[in-house]
Amino acid sequence: MFAVYAAEPKPDDPLAALRVGERPDPVPPEGWVPVRVRAASLNMHDIWTLRGVGIKPDRFPMILGCDGAGVLADGTEVVLHSVIGDPAWTGPETLDPKRTLLTELYQGTFADTVVVPRRNVLPKPEALSFAEAACTGTAWLTAYNMLFDKSGLRPGQTLLVQGASGGVATALIQLGRAAGFRVWATGRSEQKRALAEELGAHRTFEPGARLPERVDAVFETVGRATWSHSVKCLRPGGTIVISGATTGDATAAELQRLFFLQLRVIGATMGTREQLADLLSFLEVTGVRPQIGQELPMERAEAGFRAMLAGETAGKIVFTR
Ligand SMILES: NC(=O)c1ccc[n+]([C@@H]2O[C@H](COP(=O)([O-])OP(=O)(O)OC[C@H]3O[C@@H](n4cnc5c(N)ncnc54)[C@H](OP(=O)(O)O)[C@@H]3O)[C@@H](O)[C@H]2O)c1
Repeated sequence: MFAVYAAEPKPDDPLAALRVGERPDPVPPEGWVPVRVRAASLNMHDIWTLRGVGIKPDRFPMILGCDGAGVLADGTEVVLHSVIGDPAWTGPETLDPKRTLLTELYQGTFADTVVVPRRNVLPKPEALSFAEAACTGTAWLTAYNMLFDKSGLRPGQTLLVQGASGGVATALIQLGRAAGFRVWATGRSEQKRALAEELGAHRTFEPGARLPERVDAVFETVGRATWSHSVKCLRPGGTIVISGATTGDATAAELQRLFFLQLRVIGATMGTREQLADLLSFLEVTGVRPQIGQELPMERAEAGFRAMLAGETAGKIVFTR
């Protein structure tokens, strides 16, 4: 079948590992279902996979794509939850020590067909297009978890999103605005800051800018480039919710500020099946739709990877089939 995959790990030149071609048809194990993929979205995770981060070398070649939407054999339209857990685990899937994300152990969604455990498909709301639904499983789910579960914020409070145009950043801005938070964001260019404002940010700032006042929570996916600023932006008792470190580990943990101002740092990874169902419902109820900056046929996936690697995002990058 047609697939977009990583041939081998290439830590310094991820695009050199990218292949657009053919892979064997998948055979669903007992209890798994084949999903004919109609749309799948690109995540930074796919670039980590090309670099060989978070995946063992013997797992290559690996079909990329952590999330998607498609159709079951009986015609049911579905959204994928890509956290594959141990069937014996009873708690939240994100805390299952044996959990794995599509593309880490099992083949991903940038293909004609993906196979997943039956419990990992949810009905696609009719109101969402396949492309919109394909944004929800990773970036939007993580943003939903960060905002509504991990942050402890109440509507009316002020949050800062580090980043304006990325998948998680745009989701945080759109979800935060719809839920009644005062949303501030940093963006690396005027164009990116304008996009954040179009999506609902009340105010935007250049990276590292002094804010008019300290915020209740900061949402981090950038890491080293923004960490110190994030810590300095918080009011006493404030919270940083972090789900990524695109620019690497922080060089200074800012320990003195952390204890003296009694700050909280909370990690977040993906979300549960239940949270994904709630996110889909939230989108239906509010009319919010994931911001898609670029939609390409899957055959042209390389252009999407190049754009993400260059930081040229304007929301999610979606591949359709
Ligand atoms: N833990 C999880 O479950 C989970 C889930 C999803 C994503 N993540 C992680 O979150 C991070 C973002 O993922 P994504 O898919 O949203 O990526 P993306 O679409 O490429 O977005 C990158 C974001 O980083 C911001 N950024 C700010 N300074 C940057 C710098 N110096 N270099 C690069 N980016 C910078 C960008 O801001 P501008 O708008 O100003 O360019 C943009 O908003 C990745 O590290 C990813 O692995 C983790």
